[in-house]
Amino acid sequence: MLFYFSATGNSQWIALQLASLTGDEACSITDFIKNKSVPALPTGTARVGFVFPIHSWYVPAPVLQFLSQLAIPASAYRYAICTCGDDVGKGLSRLSRHFPLDAAWSIQMPNTYVPMFKLDPPALAQQKVETAQQQLPRIASAVKRKEHVWEVHEGSWPWCKTYVVYPLFKNFCISIKAFQTDDTCISCGRCEQHCPVSAIRLVNGHPTWNNACIHCMACLHGCPTHAICYGKGTKGKGQYHLEDYINDER
Ligand SMILES: Cc1cc2nc3c(=O)[nH]c(=O)nc-3n(C[C@H](O)[C@H](O)[C@H](O)COP(=O)(O)O)c2cc1C
Repeated sequence: MLFYFSATGNSQWIALQLASLTGDEACSITDFIKNKSVPALPTGTARVGFVFPIHSWYVPAPVLQFLSQLAIPASAYRYAICTCGDDVGKGLSRLSRHFPLDAAWSIQMPNTYVPMFKLDPPALAQQKVETAQQQLPRIASAVKRKEHVWEVHEGSWPWCKTYVVYPLFKNFCISIKAFQTDDTCISCGRCEQHCPVSAIRLVNGHPTWNNACIHCMACLHGCPTHAICYGKGTKGKGQYHLEDYINDER
């Protein structure tokens, strides 16, 4: 069993490829969140994996909530793969303190957090996607052999990022106030459908955000007319589309 959470497609892409290499079933955590349900794992479950993005050097809140509700057979091998633009700080170590893991990997993928950072230049994004894909067969065989591996790129000042910056980000930066749409909004409702935490409702044909928002940027990057921005922070930064970096044969 392989559970994934993904806002802009990176973690989903990794999860689906890994599942095809290991023969495991990949399930979207978002579907369980939207249905307000938690899956029951069969007692004989041999391994359980989780793929999700890092958000400000820790695990996105909906993933933490899902993990806290999941009952995993004691004998199951547990692993996590965290996708990141650069590094994950102590995010996975912190998670493993209350959610023990037998193995963990981080995989760099194109950055998606445009309110504070720029998108990666296309050549770098392409390189990250190709390198990620090359890593997967090795990770899949480690998973199949239930190896105890910890290959996590923590980056510089990892403790500070996870234990100091993350709480500041969570409490002071995740705000819905600056989300806006311009007059190119066509009221298609795609933002509402794609939001993994149901934080958007169309009111009089226009998206409105609620406090469930986790700043994942699925709405901004998935808008077909690029009508959504986050104040001045996202001005001129463009949209990220994973499809630009993968081809159909993969
Ligand atoms: C709110 C937010 C916070 C992020 N924080 C980090 C971070 O701390 N370190 C990092 O390397 N990348 C960070 N990123 C980049 C994502 O982790 C990365 O692009 C990931 O692959 C996105 O996965 P997804 O497309 O499955 O949602 C952040 C992205 C978002 C939206």
